[in-house]
Amino acid sequence: MTDTATAITPDDPLDFFVDLHPPVADFRSDVLNGLKARPRTIPPKYFYDADGSALFDAITATPEYYVTRTELSILERIAPDIAERAGQGAIVIEPGSGSSVKISTLLRALDRPKAYIGSDISKEHLIAACRDLAADHPGLFVGAVCADFTAPLDLSELDIPEGRRLVFFPGSTIGNFEPAQAVQVLKNIRSWLRPGDALLLGADRIKDPAILKAAYDDAEGVTAAFNLNLLKRIARELGSDVDPADFSHRAIWNDDRARIEMHLEAKRDVAFTVAGERFEIPEGETIHTENSHKFSIESFSDLARKASLSVRDTWSDPAEHFTLYWLERGSEA
Ligand code: SAH
Ligand code: AVI
Repeated sequence: MTDTATAITPDDPLDFFVDLHPPVADFRSDVLNGLKARPRTIPPKYFYDADGSALFDAITATPEYYVTRTELSILERIAPDIAERAGQGAIVIEPGSGSSVKISTLLRALDRPKAYIGSDISKEHLIAACRDLAADHPGLFVGAVCADFTAPLDLSELDIPEGRRLVFFPGSTIGNFEPAQAVQVLKNIRSWLRPGDALLLGADRIKDPAILKAAYDDAEGVTAAFNLNLLKRIARELGSDVDPADFSHRAIWNDDRARIEMHLEAKRDVAFTVAGERFEIPEGETIHTENSHKFSIESFSDLARKASLSVRDTWSDPAEHFTLYWLERGSEA
C-alpha cells in the first residue's frame, strides 16, 4: 500500500481507501488563472464538492437529463453479454464513480466478481458510495481511490487483487474533456489494461440540439444550481466575496465543436476578490465552466484510436441517443 493509504478500521466495509486528492492550492491557482484567461474558464472537475456531487445526482433524476436513464436501459439489456465477456471473478475498476449507481446493474449480472475499485475526485461522496456498495456485496473486495483521473495513476501501487480487469467509465464523463485531454485520460485508463482486459465506456451521441439544450437547462433549475454551486465553492474555500446571485446559468450548443457549453454569465458589471486578487467582469461576459462533447460512433472511435484503444463492439438505445463501447488495447500509435 502507498504512503497515502488512509487507515481503515477492522469493522469498515471498505478494504482500502487511498487519498491522492489534489491539494486546495491547485483549486486556487486553477481558479485565479482561469479568471485571468480570455475567455475565462474554470475546469469542470471543481463542480464536485459534496454539494456539487449531490446536485449532479439530482440532475440525473430530472426528466430532461436523458443521459443516465438511457445508459442504464442499455446496460440492463446487455448485462448478460457483458457478464459473458468479463468471465468469472472480474476485477471491476470505475473512474469517476460518483454514487456508484450504474455499477450495481453490472455487479448483479457479473459471475462472482472478485473486486470493485471506485475512484473519484469527490472524496466524501466516494467513500460513502463505496461503503454502501461494500455493505450490499459481502465478500466482494471493495477499494476506494480519491484521485484526479487527468493525472497518471499507477494501479500497481495499490493492493488490487489479481484477475481479469473490466474498467467501467460510464456517464459520458469522457465528453467533459477537450479532445486532446480526452485522449490523455483514455491513455491513463489504457495503462490499467493488460492483454485480455477491457474498457466499457459510455458516451453521449450527437442529436437534436433542442433535446441537448433542455438536458443542460432543466425547467426546475437543478443544472443551474449545479453550475452556480461552483461560485459558492469558490466563496467558501478560497475566501472570495463573489455573489452567485450576480450570475446566470447558460447552456449553449456549439455545433462546430459538437458540444454543449455551460457558462456563468454576469447579469451586471460585477467586481469581486478571490484569494486577495480583484476581478471585474462586465455585464454579459461569461465564465466558461463545462464542455460536454457529443459523439458519433465514428468520432468516438477516432478519439479512442488516438489513445491506442480499439472499439470491439458498440450498443445503443433504439433512438441512438447514447452508446456503450467495448474497448481493448490496440497497438501503440
Ligand atoms: N459515473 C457516474 C458519475 C458521473 S458524474 C455516472 O455515470 O452517473 C462525473 C463524476 O466524475 C463525478 O462523480 C465527479 O466527481 C468525477 N470527476 C469529474 N472530474 C474528475 C477528475 N478529473 N478526476 C476524478 N473524478 C472526476
Ligand atoms: C458528468 N458529466 C458527464 C455530465 C455531463 O452531462 O456532461 C455533467 C453535467 N453537467 C451538466 N449536467 C450534467
